[in-house]
Amino acid sequence: MSSVLDADFRSDTVTQPTDRMREAMAQAQVGDDVLGDDPTIQKLEEEFARLFGKEAALFFPSGTMANQCAAATHLVPGEEVIVDAGAHIFQFEGGGLSRIAGAHLRTLDSANGQFSFGSLSRAIRPVNEHMPRTGLICVEETHLFSGGTIVPHDYLVEVHGLAKHHGIPVHMDGARLWNAQAETGMPFSEYGAVCDSLMVSLSKGLSCPVGSVLMGDGQFISRARRARKWMGGGMRQAGILAACGLIALEETMPLLADDNSRCRRLGGVVLGLDGVRLAQETIDTNILFLEVTAPNLDAPQLVAALADRGIHTLALGERLLRFVTHRHITDEHVDRAAQALQEALSQ
Ligand SMILES: Cc1ncc(COP(=O)(O)O)c(C=O)c1O
Repeated sequence: MSSVLDADFRSDTVTQPTDRMREAMAQAQVGDDVLGDDPTIQKLEEEFARLFGKEAALFFPSGTMANQCAAATHLVPGEEVIVDAGAHIFQFEGGGLSRIAGAHLRTLDSANGQFSFGSLSRAIRPVNEHMPRTGLICVEETHLFSGGTIVPHDYLVEVHGLAKHHGIPVHMDGARLWNAQAETGMPFSEYGAVCDSLMVSLSKGLSCPVGSVLMGDGQFISRARRARKWMGGGMRQAGILAACGLIALEETMPLLADDNSRCRRLGGVVLGLDGVRLAQETIDTNILFLEVTAPNLDAPQLVAALADRGIHTLALGERLLRFVTHRHITDEHVDRAAQALQEALSQ
């Protein structure tokens, strides 16, 4: 960043811990969590399990580790995972599903994070010794790849029902479930009810420095604790980090609805511009993908032109860039981003 006046739209993971979080870190009661001694981690795990209506929860250093640990806990190596071809757990976690969980992968195309019931039903394997066993279905709320789209709760209910009918567990990557809930207003327990395991991130829009939480039934979480151990994710006095998660529920979670509406406002401006178009069907939450349509400009060039104007975004390919709104993006930043886009496109 070249100036404190710059606006960083690259990701909601750039958010800084709040003053209250920093104070809570300094004051946190801690212990050796690998020995089961950290009261702040225990409090966070109990609070999250209660919030999502699950029996137990487990604190992780990252969403990737929590997702991969969930898959490794659900699956016997060689079993098949049904996963959307654009899902973070498949696309952006370094091939962990096969490397860590030993999974056989069955990717399905989805529309906005929803695969059709026909394709899902057809992908579930019959009992047949020649075929892999279907061992897990993954869903993602919100769906990053389609622009932070909210996967409708009714859809999740149906997927879970179908999975249950076949005795297959469902894992939900809910890294940004918070942003969906800020729109739907549904109790968090309703999200917990449509999956067998659920990961939520603390380190994105919620502004914590580190951390994700995995939830499930008691047996699943004690098996996941063992998997977290062999993955090297057992942490010692990490109550210092968990303390921020408890503050986030009160302090930063209520701010996410504003992040979502700022993103929609920016998207509204884009609709009127020549040279870019929305690369997503709807702007449900805090993520905006733009396709550069101007013939004389590509995405890295547009990103550079915006950066010259103090607006930092991410190029995700030759024609694609993204804006993500979060706690440090104000209404004024949105106005400046709109102006910078106008200027850069009319150069
Ligand atoms: C949808 C989704 N799932 C999982 C993750 C992984 O989280 P982490 O970066 O904490 O490993 C991310 C990170 O951006 C994400 O966007």
